[in-house]
Amino acid sequence: MKPLPLLLLIAVAASAADFKKDIQPILEKNCYECHSEKTGKRKGGFVFDDLETFKLDIADTDVAQIRPGKPDDSHFLEVIVNEGHERHMPPKGQLSASEIRKITEWIQEGASFDKAGPGGSAPVAAAPAKKSLPPIMSWTNLEGKTIRAGFVRLEGDHVVLRMPANGQEVPYPLAKLNETSRKQAQDAGAP
Ligand code: HEC
Repeated sequence: MKPLPLLLLIAVAASAADFKKDIQPILEKNCYECHSEKTGKRKGGFVFDDLETFKLDIADTDVAQIRPGKPDDSHFLEVIVNEGHERHMPPKGQLSASEIRKITEWIQEGASFDKAGPGGSAPVAAAPAKKSLPPIMSWTNLEGKTIRAGFVRLEGDHVVLRMPANGQEVPYPLAKLNETSRKQAQDAGAP
């Protein structure tokens, strides 16, 4: 079996969202006005500029605003995305699609403040980077059917798989995979 093509590895690495570079500027522009230690505004009890405090909202528990690796279960994302939410954020306005995509990616990748090393807030983010993956892996869906395909990347709530037969890239809903395969996809996509 051939190793995973280098290009593919680069594509996976390049899709990573970096908190300081990608996420903080979005929050600064749209949220600090009302959620900041510096300005003294702690609307709803939330501040996003003091990372020690913000960190407390990031955990894999039902009450956390941000669940690392689980954008779909992150209330933080829900109030940003869903314009009809009674506490839609920011209250007057809407983040752009690309800003929302960045935040989604960041949460999907483990919602860490610091990519460079440990000390990130989330256990998921502290996992060592996957240097290489087998070109063909087994994926089992909820019906128990096994798919053999390579991992390409995570895209929102889909995993993009490469079909060995024709090299085609096919997005597959994470929700349709069984728990083991879903975890395999999330691990493979973690930074
Ligand atoms: C103009 C002020 C203002 C801005 C700007 C703002 N918020 Fe809020 N935010 C509030 C207020 C007020 C509450 C408390 C709402 C309540 O409890 O009814 C709140 C609550 C929240 C909550 C908790 C929601 C809930 O359901 O309990 C989250 C998460 C949040 N804000 C995130 C954000 C994010 C992310 C941004 C930037 C994209 C943002 N906010 C921008 C005023 C603001």
